[in-house]
Amino acid sequence: MLRAKIIATGSYAPERVLTNFDLEKMVDTSDEWIRERSGIRERRIASEKEAASDLAYEAAKAAFKRTDIKPKDIELIIVATVTGDMPTPATACHLQHKLGIKKAAAFDVNAACSGFLYGLSIADSFIKSGAYKRILLVGTEVLSRFTDWEDRTTCVLFGDGAGAAILEATDENRGIVSAHIRSDGALWELLHMPGGGSINPPSKESLKKKMHYLKMKGNEIFKVAVRTLENLASRTLVENKLKPSQLSLLIPHQANLRIIQATAERLNIPMEKVFVNIDKYGNTSAASIPIALDEAVRQGRVRDGDYVLLEAFGGGLTWASVLIKW
Ligand code: UT7
Repeated sequence: MLRAKIIATGSYAPERVLTNFDLEKMVDTSDEWIRERSGIRERRIASEKEAASDLAYEAAKAAFKRTDIKPKDIELIIVATVTGDMPTPATACHLQHKLGIKKAAAFDVNAACSGFLYGLSIADSFIKSGAYKRILLVGTEVLSRFTDWEDRTTCVLFGDGAGAAILEATDENRGIVSAHIRSDGALWELLHMPGGGSINPPSKESLKKKMHYLKMKGNEIFKVAVRTLENLASRTLVENKLKPSQLSLLIPHQANLRIIQATAERLNIPMEKVFVNIDKYGNTSAASIPIALDEAVRQGRVRDGDYVLLEAFGGGLTWASVLIKW
């Protein structure tokens, strides 16, 4: 049976660091509030010249450095993002051009913070079906450009960055074991950007009403997040006849340290087995899991044969979990 194996990872964080203390000077907030409520200390902000595909390009380049596979070997490029270069064409096409890849299909996935795991699920299906052998998947976000820097309920949470994974077909007994994706469109209003689409196209009015910024009902998402993540992650483990103790590492979407801790507790996974880097990057939406995965690999926290569980939750609402045998 063909399986999709991640053969290389890479990530990129823009140079500019914005600390909680910097934010204290911008809105009515405090370092203490942000750390206690979210676990974030600082986040990265893209330079004016950097678009989502530029961050994606750096992350992809880092991944290609760690494998013999060349960009020309890639048959499919998937980019997960909600802050793409432009509404059309896809950021994946911009990335394809930057990487000089001629013969490949390219498209974007919009599943907010679950985007990278949706992408893994799609890549897994394409590889299992035999349609493609080598796929580049990137999660990239420039959330700083769609953040209302006067809204303290959102601006302290988000950050910019990108993470990439190169997947290859293998007939070894390793790679993606199972991928589960879910959504509930009835809850779309909890995290959305009202302007710029066909409901509220760009206009003087939409600009005045700040419709081109992300709006979030954080505390409502919080409650749904912990419950649904626990359900889906537990189901993933049960379906694969695995006990939580057999997992080597849980890599959760980095939205809030308290969500991460509550989910780990409900799943009976000790925090030593949970990867956390939210303090450095904040919530980077679709980029959060691939950045964390890349750092976990680089820190030697993921080894051959390990079971690693990835889980995410975000706008849509969407949620997902992916089990990998490394
Ligand atoms: O990426 C996936 C989707 N997003 C998420 O998963 C986000 C999930 N939610 C969260 O992470 C948390 O709900 C937040 C970190 C956003 C907020 O934490 P909370 O404990 O749920 O706080 P809250 O929204 O209930 O607000 C508590 C208080 C409020 O004041 P009152 O009404 O109690 O007087 C807020 O106005 O904190 C106030 N507040 C702030 N105070 C200082 C809200 N933002 C700030 C701030 N600084 N930045």
